[in-house]
Amino acid sequence: MNKKVLILSLCLPLMGLLSSCDDGRIYEEQVVIPQEGLSLKMTGSISNIGDWPSGYSLVVAGFNDESAYAVVSKIVPNPSTDGGEVTVEMSGITDEVTSLEFCITDRLRRRVHTFCKTDVSAAVDNVVTMDVGAQDVGMCGVVQDEVFTPSCAACHGASAGGAAAGLYLTEGLSYDALVNQPATCNPEMLRVSPGDAGSSFLYLVLSRDGDTGHPHTDILDAKRKTVLLNLIEDWIDNGAQP
Ligand code: HEC
Repeated sequence: MNKKVLILSLCLPLMGLLSSCDDGRIYEEQVVIPQEGLSLKMTGSISNIGDWPSGYSLVVAGFNDESAYAVVSKIVPNPSTDGGEVTVEMSGITDEVTSLEFCITDRLRRRVHTFCKTDVSAAVDNVVTMDVGAQDVGMCGVVQDEVFTPSCAACHGASAGGAAAGLYLTEGLSYDALVNQPATCNPEMLRVSPGDAGSSFLYLVLSRDGDTGHPHTDILDAKRKTVLLNLIEDWIDNGAQP
């Protein structure tokens, strides 16, 4: 059917209902509904989503190699009980997207942490299936995995020489070593004062120079520094939940 005939055949039955039918463009838009791209179906059991303050979202998202921002994303609904099952479907995943991730993003849709990831090439009949299993998405675990383990533990407890400033930032030990503990370098301050990043030595050491004899402001990867500093600040301001 050519376009004119199509528009006419749509317009004619409507003539009686509408006072005028002079704008063919509207009908054209209604007829052409592009259903392009892949779909993603994600399932899993989610716990500790309640830790995250507003501005952060647990999503399934599509990223490409060039940008830290999600091209497309969809919020994962909260499970009805903590640890309960969820299912999300996202469609319209275009060619730009190279990887599909189950992750936390910030208010600018930048990745904060990826729990699970799959390649678009895993699609079968244009559908990518992703079962993430049981996932603890708690904020404290994300701080450990994104900051302490990769960037700090080497000097703070993971190697034979002990922990710099007596501060252990290794998995399992970091929480008790930080929260409500006085700083070695400045015993008047707490390393982490729940609810107040601005007076937490941990946050000050990472965000400005001069708090210890060992400069810490360049330790975090420059490309991700803002995201990771915000993460630590928000974790502390939100009560430094375990
Ligand atoms: C290359 C080694 C090294 C790395 C990596 C490192 N630190 Fe340190 N850190 C030190 C040293 C050394 C001190 C003690 C400085 C001093 O005595 O003045 C220290 C002190 C600290 C203190 C002060 C502790 C207190 O009680 O006074 C904090 C907080 C801290 N580091 C956090 C971190 C965090 C968070 C990271 C990762 C983002 C990190 N550090 C990575 C070597 C390191």
